[in-house]
Amino acid sequence: TRTILIGAPVDSGQRQPGCLMGPAAYRVAGLRPLLEGLGLAVADRGDLALPQVLPRRHCANGAVDQLPATVAWTGLIRDAVRDALRQGGIPIVLGGDHSLALGSVAGAAEDAAAQGRPLFLLWMDAHSDFHTPLSTTTGNLHGTPVAYAAGRPGFDAFGPFPTPIPAERICLFGIRSVDPAEHRALQDCAIGVNDMRVLDEQGITAPLGAFLDRVRAAQGKLHVSLDVDFLDPSIAPAVGTTVPGGATFREAHLACELIHETGLMTSLDLVELNPFLDDRGRTAKLMVDLVGSLMGRKVFDRPTRSFT
Ligand code: ARG
Ligand code: MN
Ligand code: MN
Ligand code: MN
Repeated sequence: TRTILIGAPVDSGQRQPGCLMGPAAYRVAGLRPLLEGLGLAVADRGDLALPQVLPRRHCANGAVDQLPATVAWTGLIRDAVRDALRQGGIPIVLGGDHSLALGSVAGAAEDAAAQGRPLFLLWMDAHSDFHTPLSTTTGNLHGTPVAYAAGRPGFDAFGPFPTPIPAERICLFGIRSVDPAEHRALQDCAIGVNDMRVLDEQGITAPLGAFLDRVRAAQGKLHVSLDVDFLDPSIAPAVGTTVPGGATFREAHLACELIHETGLMTSLDLVELNPFLDDRGRTAKLMVDLVGSLMGRKVFDRPTRSFT
């Protein structure tokens, strides 16, 4: 396997400055040597950069913040992820706030459609990110990428999502903060909602395994989007949108190990790291550590597993 690192210093999807330092923090925390130590080939494409001139874009919802920059990032990231997949690599997008997933999931969807394979989306996050540009009240577009991927209306400024992902192929995992408009929309669709209540009752393995089994049965591709705030703030303070009651160190590693053992993950986002808020790099180091588990580091080797 070849992993392709794509730096995406996106800071336009929310208003707390700092996520633009994320790609540098992952590199300083040793992402590349970690992957090489696992025997993987690594190509680092460096950081993407916005063009000088941004597209003119307008949204009917006046609350929406920094739409032109986010539209421009979306196109850049979509192309970079699609090209990395086309070259047979596993793209790892180093964020940057979660609005970068407007582009990364679109790129993964373009690739999956070209290969005639279904794309599945695993969203590890405290938030459902299911707003549309029309429903958001904060105006922060990092709260919208799941809605874009699911083909909800309101994203005219971005152009149509390549092949919208059917709700049954989207799994929200670890969520514990859902706004009223998102809640209504989620109730009207078949997106899998594994909120913290589900994980408290059933643990990590059963709900995650059920989803991964469906990916395998469909011979699907799997995009994983890992938001720092999936983790409990006590172990991952470097994020602007902390929500108490997140995944523990052990739950997060277990989830990542299970994903690895299925061999199903074809692309990955690391998002919302704000190094300015970190405590001696501990959040950056933990995220890099979790990539280790996602890419095959383990205490003791076990064969690839199936859950059913
Ligand atoms: N639902 C809130 C909003 O729309 C929070 C979104 C947080 N999203 C994230 N990617 N951290 O503003
Ligand atoms: Mn900002
Ligand atoms: Mn998010
Ligand atoms: Mn979040």
